[in-house]
Amino acid sequence: MHLSWPSRRHTTRAQHPPRSHAPRSPPKPFAAMANPNQDRLAAFFKSYPASQHPSRWNDLWVAGDFIPWDRGSANPALIDLLLHPSDATYTLDPPKNAHGKLKRALVPGCGKGYDVALFAASGYDAYGLEVSGVAADVAKTWLASHEAREGNEGEYRTQDEGIGRGKAEVLHGDFFRDDWLEAAGGLGLGFDVIYDNTVSLQLIWNRFTTLT
Ligand SMILES: C[S@@+](CC[C@H](N)C(=O)[O-])C[C@H]1O[C@@H](n2cnc3c(N)ncnc32)[C@H](O)[C@@H]1O
Repeated sequence: MHLSWPSRRHTTRAQHPPRSHAPRSPPKPFAAMANPNQDRLAAFFKSYPASQHPSRWNDLWVAGDFIPWDRGSANPALIDLLLHPSDATYTLDPPKNAHGKLKRALVPGCGKGYDVALFAASGYDAYGLEVSGVAADVAKTWLASHEAREGNEGEYRTQDEGIGRGKAEVLHGDFFRDDWLEAAGGLGLGFDVIYDNTVSLQLIWNRFTTLT
């Protein structure tokens, strides 16, 4: 699925409706806030133990017809953070360390790799991690494409020639194991930034589903 890229201007700022003075209804329970895609995704995993989730993710990528999280671009909030820090609530330190080396960024569950491209363009050595072998291959192919160096609004172009462009590598492995670390240079190197959009939520989700 490839959705057209919504302009950052229309996606990162909350649109507030006119203020109403009518009494507020009580907040809805969390489950009622899920949209149909989230419900369908949750149902896809629900009756499977956590040990089988990696292969379930891979099944989604193999079928390729239900990848609802793929907005066709990097997360607009991450674009703000890296490219427009004066608009962002938080800021990151510069991508070069005190020894002049590029810092290392990890994107667990990188999907097609949009956020990996963004970190690389911003001067980080970026590593995408995917538990799905198919997704890892899709990401490698996409990251080698022209689109991954350009973007819809130039967001994947090298941002600062003085800093340069970082690596954009994809590793196949499970974030909750450490057998992929060797391919990322080993445990000792660590990461300066870990940008996780959804993967560690599985810890909470798995805990929740084993309790209910
Ligand atoms: C909801 S998608 C988000 C993909 C991507 N971050 C994006 O925004 O397009 C979650 C991705 O994480 C991958 N994934 C799930 N569990 C993982 C794990 N334990 N380790 C690494 N990747 C994982 C899935 O294969 C899937 O591609």
